[in-house]
Amino acid sequence: MELRKPYIAADSRYDQSHSLYRRCGRSGVLLPKVSLGFWHNFGGNDSYERARDITHYAFDHGITHFDLANNYGPPYGSAEETMGKLLCDDFFRYRDELFISTKAGYDMWPGPYGNWGSRKYLMASIDQSLRRMGLDYVDLFYSHRYDPQTPLEETLQALVDIVRAGKALYVGISRWPLEALKVADKYLRDHDVPLLIYQGRVNMIDHEPIDEGILDYCCEHGIGFISFSPLAQGLLTDRYLNGIPKDSRMAQGGSLTADKLTPELLAHLRQLNSEAQAQGHTLAENALAWILHQKGITSVLVGASSVGQLERNMKCIFD
Ligand SMILES: NC(=O)c1ccc[n+]([C@@H]2O[C@H](COP(=O)([O-])OP(=O)(O)OC[C@H]3O[C@@H](n4cnc5c(N)ncnc54)[C@H](OP(=O)(O)O)[C@@H]3O)[C@@H](O)[C@H]2O)c1
Repeated sequence: MELRKPYIAADSRYDQSHSLYRRCGRSGVLLPKVSLGFWHNFGGNDSYERARDITHYAFDHGITHFDLANNYGPPYGSAEETMGKLLCDDFFRYRDELFISTKAGYDMWPGPYGNWGSRKYLMASIDQSLRRMGLDYVDLFYSHRYDPQTPLEETLQALVDIVRAGKALYVGISRWPLEALKVADKYLRDHDVPLLIYQGRVNMIDHEPIDEGILDYCCEHGIGFISFSPLAQGLLTDRYLNGIPKDSRMAQGGSLTADKLTPELLAHLRQLNSEAQAQGHTLAENALAWILHQKGITSVLVGASSVGQLERNMKCIFD
């Protein structure tokens, strides 16, 4: 087997920095307009070498923010193990140039303490995440979802204590409804751990956080906003315009099922694709640019199953 050369990051990685970074709310943190998510394609069942190529390409082009969660894989935890291996193999020397996030809130381990928003779960989960990645701290720790059964103050105090313990530098919340976001904003501010960022699904065909006033609230209150699944898991690309490719996420039938691709949606996607082509862009570029033009957006959090996809998607930074 041929050994890979040691990874040396490209000297040119910050050449585009004037157009690549945005301030995250009213914080001191700059995030790249395009960030990379590890939900799919970075698990224990995926090719490590491909994950490594994608991550190298990302960092070489100024993508400093990698987003994880405790249960990304499959199997659960394995995307964080991949991150740990990447750090070991290539990235530890660049640790201070990286902004690594992880989350807890969904199903992770069996029994009553491996899910939702209790202090018990969050405290154990952050320790597990740090162990899997071989890190002393993450840059950002999220409550991955709103838990209607747990008092918000319990979840929020756990976030505060995680920061106080030095296990995370900043905290965020994902998929919390507007009223709960307001409570979180006040609670965390009152405890001197201001909410850095909200993670929600905003894309051209699915934008509840805009419709419900969440993006506006974040913008008005100095909270950053990062949009997950900005390409609607690949729907907002040319991937499904002429059938379902065998190697696509939809063909795997997990988080993106074929029933989502209704004839009406397909017609709409084809229309968007024609409009993009007429402007000399791809549908994916236009879809990402549309999000980045919404007031209050800090970053689009893309996924990629190849270097080529990421390369093409970075072209959205045409202002
Ligand atoms: N907070 C939450 O609850 C939550 C939920 C979901 C996601 N997230 C975060 O958001 C990140 C991104 O989510 P996502 O993967 O759904 O994002 P996405 O960018 O909407 O979809 C990525 C997928 O689209 C396809 N694709 C991307 N670029 C393409 C291109 N140029 N041409 C053709 N196909 C292209 C690829 O699928 P193929 O495999 O078909 O090639 C790729 O894996 C996740 O990794 C995670 O970090 C968070």
